[in-house]
Amino acid sequence: MKEWRTKVFRVVSVILMFAMVVSVVNVNTVSAKVKKKKNIVVLYFSATGTTKGAAKKIKKATKGKLVAIKPAEPYTEEDLDYGNDGSRVTKEHESAKTPAASKVRPEISNLNAIKKAVRKADVVYIGYPIWWGEAPHIVYSFVETVSLKGKTVVPFSTSISSGLGNSGKHLKTRAKISSKTKWLKGRNFYEIPSQKKVNKWVKGLISVHG
Ligand SMILES: Cc1cc2nc3c(=O)[nH]c(=O)nc-3n(C[C@H](O)[C@H](O)[C@H](O)COP(=O)(O)O)c2cc1C
Repeated sequence: MKEWRTKVFRVVSVILMFAMVVSVVNVNTVSAKVKKKKNIVVLYFSATGTTKGAAKKIKKATKGKLVAIKPAEPYTEEDLDYGNDGSRVTKEHESAKTPAASKVRPEISNLNAIKKAVRKADVVYIGYPIWWGEAPHIVYSFVETVSLKGKTVVPFSTSISSGLGNSGKHLKTRAKISSKTKWLKGRNFYEIPSQKKVNKWVKGLISVHG
């Protein structure tokens, strides 16, 4: 009788130990999955520094990699004079009804560095100044060339008075995306935002993109 009880006790102990090992392994794999850090890149085009300022704050909040979209031909003050009919930006603007419909695609000088950073990323923030209510043509040069398949995309902009408007949605119409791309609404800032403001925004987004 005593021997029989000892045997049962041994079998139960072995089963319990096995169950414990399995559950520890499970907990570790689940937490490893939850903890897998997302790779974030903060891309931006900035002609006069405001979007760059916002992008730097987003980089700090996300601990992402900051990468500028650099025009092969930088925009001078003269180029940016939207009050002048013959200026570079006015010509770009007047080339079509919208930048999405335009054929003007300013060349990007650091395309390879951008491609490399984006390839590794799970989440891509794309920042730009609002020009005539839209993203500048050079941001279209980016979305039409670099694959955003399977990425989470977060547009952000800076402006004087307009909001982000439909600029993000319009970029999406021309972007190289897949059904797995998550294109978020994004937001605009009216000046270089405080770190506190950006942290709060990014915290809300991290619950979406991880
Ligand atoms: C060509 C051009 C067009 C602009 N159009 C608008 C506009 O439609 N609405 C607005 O609020 N600001 C407009 N702005 C102002 C910029 O959006 C704003 O100054 C922005 O923060 C500049 O960002 P950056 O310093 O990163 O280039 C325009 C500026 C330029 C040069």
